[in-house]
Amino acid sequence: MDLKPQRGKFITLEGVDGAGKSTHIPWIAAHLRQGSREVVVTREPGGTPLAEQLRALVLSEPMDALSETLLMFAARTDHLRQVILPALTRGAWVLCDRYTDATVAYQGGGKGVSADLIRRLAQSVHPDLMPDQTLVFDCPYEVSRRRLSLSGRAPDRFEAEGQAFFERVRAAYREIAQSAPARVCIVDASQDMDKVKVEVNNIIITI
Ligand code: TYD
Repeated sequence: MDLKPQRGKFITLEGVDGAGKSTHIPWIAAHLRQGSREVVVTREPGGTPLAEQLRALVLSEPMDALSETLLMFAARTDHLRQVILPALTRGAWVLCDRYTDATVAYQGGGKGVSADLIRRLAQSVHPDLMPDQTLVFDCPYEVSRRRLSLSGRAPDRFEAEGQAFFERVRAAYREIAQSAPARVCIVDASQDMDKVKVEVNNIIITI
């Protein structure tokens, strides 16, 4: 993984399900596309034909947490090679909906997969690529459930988990933010959309 110093910025959006991060992606991308800057918008698991197939599997098929973790990293490996690294290398900015912090929060915090195993997998798959900036959309369980039910779509395997799982994932994201304060900012996503926008904007103008 040989990234030039002038590589593009790598920005990730994270957070508990139902915090509304997907709603904010289009305007954030538009905002980042100033001048002639190329911004690649992508997501995990997914972002390539193979990784999208893995996404469909992992979001729907019952499986144990270790298999889930390995599939997340399989999808991530393909995504990095095919999309993220080529984009960053040509100087484009990458705005990615979830990345390795999601594995730490969901499979590690939520499901109890060993933090050391996740760290070692991350180290093998992307030895020197963590995001330049990560925004974690945070909200309480009740807000998340309300938004998910308003969306009208059927919950995936992770959204169908109960409150205890949600709280573990939420706490894991808080720990991630505490351990990497220069990279990770928590956004209070329980506020009105306009207030969330202001908070996000204040973060992205500093990138
Ligand atoms: P999400 O990003 O919320 O997409 P949508 O807005 O379409 O629902 O869904 C992806 C789900 O995958 C989410 O519940 C978190 C989960 N996930 C993990 O458990 N581990 C991971 O490493 C990643 C990338 C995602």
